[in-house]
Amino acid sequence: MNPKGEEMNNKKNSDAEGYSDLESYDQERRTTSERLKNREQLYKLFNERPIPDEQLMVSLGLYTRSSALSKMLYINELYQLMLNIPGVIMEFGTWWGQNIILFENLRGIYEPFNHDRRIIGFDTFEGYPVISDKDVESGIIKKGGYTTSSGYMEYLNKLIDYHERENVLYFKRKHKLIKGDISETIPKFFEDEPHTIVALAYFDLALYEPSKVCFETIRPHLIKGSVIALDEINNPDYPGETIALKETWGLNIGKIIRSKFMPGRAYLIVD
Ligand SMILES: C[S@@+](CC[C@H](N)C(=O)[O-])C[C@H]1O[C@@H](n2cnc3c(N)ncnc32)[C@H](O)[C@@H]1O
Repeated sequence: MNPKGEEMNNKKNSDAEGYSDLESYDQERRTTSERLKNREQLYKLFNERPIPDEQLMVSLGLYTRSSALSKMLYINELYQLMLNIPGVIMEFGTWWGQNIILFENLRGIYEPFNHDRRIIGFDTFEGYPVISDKDVESGIIKKGGYTTSSGYMEYLNKLIDYHERENVLYFKRKHKLIKGDISETIPKFFEDEPHTIVALAYFDLALYEPSKVCFETIRPHLIKGSVIALDEINNPDYPGETIALKETWGLNIGKIIRSKFMPGRAYLIVD
């Protein structure tokens, strides 16, 4: 898992020797080059693991860093807040799809018989299509940044199907991945399915224009208590999401609360 590109391969990785932690800080990957070097050790240990696959699958915590674990706890925090609200879960910007799988498995744990809790993920699966002048370009925030491998959506669909089959009510398909520019796919989704209520929307596009379209489009489909996860709130490196929120709903349509687990993440509970 990657909070904002910290594990992407093509990032700068300056030699840390002779530098203080602050000087060697890598803004894009949000860590220091010493830590990145240390992380190589984790990849090496992972690749050399003397553990059979079957046992690895139930021991993945061996390789889960605290930052990655915090992100999973954040997803759990959001799920618990949304539990007594009817409606679907949407993720705007799924990338490799870990959050979608976590949502499916939390559904299986907390509300196994709620077959109406659909989980819908939106992405181009080809990275950012366009960057506006309200966004800050960088090594990852650029056209094609956060792309996935070719055919990845099909792979992710099989993976979600697998997890759904492990859970109760596996015969009713509850997930959907929607590929394409969300500025077109989200209005189309609500045209096709106007009955939809959004219980939880996870904003993680990190860009102004598509976030703005999503804020505008989902507004009539929210109810009191709907949970809106804001991945980039108040973040100077990814200002687009907060600007889009201010321009569409303003900052007073509900309480905005900082996550217990991720210091820079927050959620809004609609009033
Ligand atoms: C920061 S990543 C999402 C990370 C993911 N939520 C996670 O936690 O692992 C942002 C994603 O938004 C997607 N994205 C950005 N602009 C988009 C657009 N206009 N339409 C669809 N997807 C878009 C990118 O392709 C990228 O996968």
